[in-house]
Amino acid sequence: MNIGIDKIGFAAPDFVLDLADLAQARSADPNKFKIGLLQSEMAVAPVTQDIVTLGAQAAASILTEEDKATIDMVIVGTESSVDQSKAAAVAIHGLLGIQPFARSIEMKEACYGATAGLSLAKSHINQFPDSKVLVIASDIAKYGIASGGEPTQGAGAVAMLVTADPRIMVLNNDNVCQTRDIYDFWRPNYDKYPRVDGKFSTEQYTDCLTTTFDHYQAKTGQQLSDFAAMCLHIPFSKQGLKGLQAIAKDEETLTRLSDRFREAIVYNKVVGNIYTGSIFLSLLSLLENSRALKADDQVLFYSYGSGAVCEIFSGRLVEGYQEHLEMDRLDKLNQRTRLSMDQYEQIFFEEIELDETGTSADLPADQSPFALAKIQDHRRIYIKN
Ligand code: CAA
Repeated sequence: MNIGIDKIGFAAPDFVLDLADLAQARSADPNKFKIGLLQSEMAVAPVTQDIVTLGAQAAASILTEEDKATIDMVIVGTESSVDQSKAAAVAIHGLLGIQPFARSIEMKEACYGATAGLSLAKSHINQFPDSKVLVIASDIAKYGIASGGEPTQGAGAVAMLVTADPRIMVLNNDNVCQTRDIYDFWRPNYDKYPRVDGKFSTEQYTDCLTTTFDHYQAKTGQQLSDFAAMCLHIPFSKQGLKGLQAIAKDEETLTRLSDRFREAIVYNKVVGNIYTGSIFLSLLSLLENSRALKADDQVLFYSYGSGAVCEIFSGRLVEGYQEHLEMDRLDKLNQRTRLSMDQYEQIFFEEIELDETGTSADLPADQSPFALAKIQDHRRIYIKN
């Protein structure tokens, strides 16, 4: 049975910071971010946006009423949870009005969680071919003001509908994973921002890729030259490019896949790191910005979550996949509200104040499709606009 991605959608907050402004404020050379990291802008989430509102918005952009009546599993991959116990998927299920007899869960392993969600969705459809699974990758990446990771922050969510006979991409059965117990990027429960061993994390990203790819080749007999494109986890675009360069052994393949890679980072460059969703944002960018791809082309994926778990897998493009995309997405991203440095820092430090009953004042109005309206008795109250 063919199982895979039937629909894919994306949402980001309305605010954006130009990394040239950040460079100036941090006395850095703008080319360090633009050329050194291959990033130009980053999405910034106000206090009224979180993984629930962004995930719901991404999903609402692709789902029909018929989908909502058929979905029987909602999976949210994230590493920026708003609750240690209640899954964001439960709140999203409610906001979207998905039929009640569904399983809703949250999955965590740094930036890898949603990839595990995709595999679980595939197994579920294999068992129940008539059902549909909603897989959402939703994250807000905040490293800290003037931290090394600051220019690689971002916010956003990707939603995918996984079904039998998908209209965009069939997922192949060639997954190879690796687990390594390391501390390269992590966030203890008592910390607001992640702890990062920056250089070590970049080395682990690449070493996990090269060693897993060797294993993938040995197990499947596939070569990099068999693929039309490669999508990687994109903490910042240069990291992905370095990954591709680390496994491309011949010049022709490297040149061809580098051309596709440039198309696959169009959105990531202006959104920043969205952790679990960044590999799927890269897929969306590839599909919507490449004129070279065609049906039946194979796409290779490298998903990496610090800590660390990674996975290499692949998919095949379905005839007519172009009809299920949004071709004006970059124009929309270019219409976001550009923040000054003062506004960015004000939003960065904004916190919801609670009284002794765990209740906040009404939060500022937010016209996004979904927004956090207030906290009442420690419960997050969302609205649909
Ligand atoms: N013009 C052009 N390039 C310049 C430049 C200039 N003026 N100044 C510096 N550069 C280049 C550097 O040469 C370097 O490029 P190379 O790596 O190709 O040599 C690049 O810009 C970055 O410079 P530095 O290494 O000096 O930058 P840094 O030390 O300030 O920070 C970082 C780099 C460690 C990656 C930091 O951004 C960071 O900590 N990021 C967060 C961690 C991260 O993203 N890790 C990735 C792997 S882990 C993962 O993937 C999970 C996840 O999502 C977090």
